[in-house]
Amino acid sequence: MSPLLKVSDLHCSFDTTRGKVHAVRGVSFEMQRGETLALVGESGCGKTTLARCILGLQKIESGDVMLDGQTVSGLSRRQLRPHRAAMQCVFQDPFSSLNPRKRVETLIREPLDLHGVGTVAERRKTVLELMERVGLRPDWSRRFPHEFSGGQRQRIGIARALALRPKLIICDEPVSALDVSVQAQIINLLYELQRDFEVSYLFITHDLTLVENFADRVAIMYLGQIVEVGKAGEIWRNPQHEFTRTLIEAIPVADPNVPMRGTRTFCDARVTVGGSS
Ligand SMILES: Nc1ncnc2c1ncn2[C@@H]1O[C@H](COP(=O)(O)OP(=O)(O)O)[C@@H](O)[C@H]1O
Ligand SMILES: [Mg+2]
Repeated sequence: MSPLLKVSDLHCSFDTTRGKVHAVRGVSFEMQRGETLALVGESGCGKTTLARCILGLQKIESGDVMLDGQTVSGLSRRQLRPHRAAMQCVFQDPFSSLNPRKRVETLIREPLDLHGVGTVAERRKTVLELMERVGLRPDWSRRFPHEFSGGQRQRIGIARALALRPKLIICDEPVSALDVSVQAQIINLLYELQRDFEVSYLFITHDLTLVENFADRVAIMYLGQIVEVGKAGEIWRNPQHEFTRTLIEAIPVADPNVPMRGTRTFCDARVTVGGSS
């Protein structure tokens, strides 16, 4: 069986007034079905550009992207359309990624409308089910995004991404804009949904502590390249690349007087899935 996602020697650069920025420099990796791969790297290393290339939102210079055994890179918008349902994304900023003039029900229903899934009545029903599933009150479906908190807005973004039952969701720093306590709730939600929806996540973050327990494997990105890939625990215990060591050393040592971040927050919060964030 072919891997769910296969990225081969991908290059992408931008022409800017200050010259050419080579943002993605020969990236290759594979993801299996149902797997969570964390893509970790510092700001500006090319994570978002890589995500946009995979999603077909950014033109690539060379290389290939294959989804489920089919090439999806270099396609026109029209050719890409049938594949787009299988590949969705959740963005960093739930404030700017949701149209403020649209009601929640419309926002979640839009992908279904665009792809002509089911009857109008069926779509409405699906929206209410999705809201419930991501921990939002279905009777709030007629509200607007500004009536929700940051965490709730990210739940709306997740419901929208799930609507078409994708095989892969690319989460681009989905919790970076949220409070630490809310971060854990959202990661727990993604973790729970994964089993029910049989979805794979490419989870992009600059914060290694977020993903140790959540990700099956971790890919470390540095200056446009993936410098190391491995099981999360192994990377943690035995980092191979100098930059990975820097990332790990930057993690604050646990202090009993300071609220915990990352991994431990995640473990503790896992039992309280479905909070009201
Ligand atoms: N549209 C663009 N035009 C020009 N340069 C860009 C554009 N998008 C990203 N870049 C540059 O590409 C590099 C990688 O950016 P990005 O993919 O956003 O990194 P990350 O998501 O890891 O923070 C940066 O140097 C950034 O300035
Ligand atoms: Mg980014």
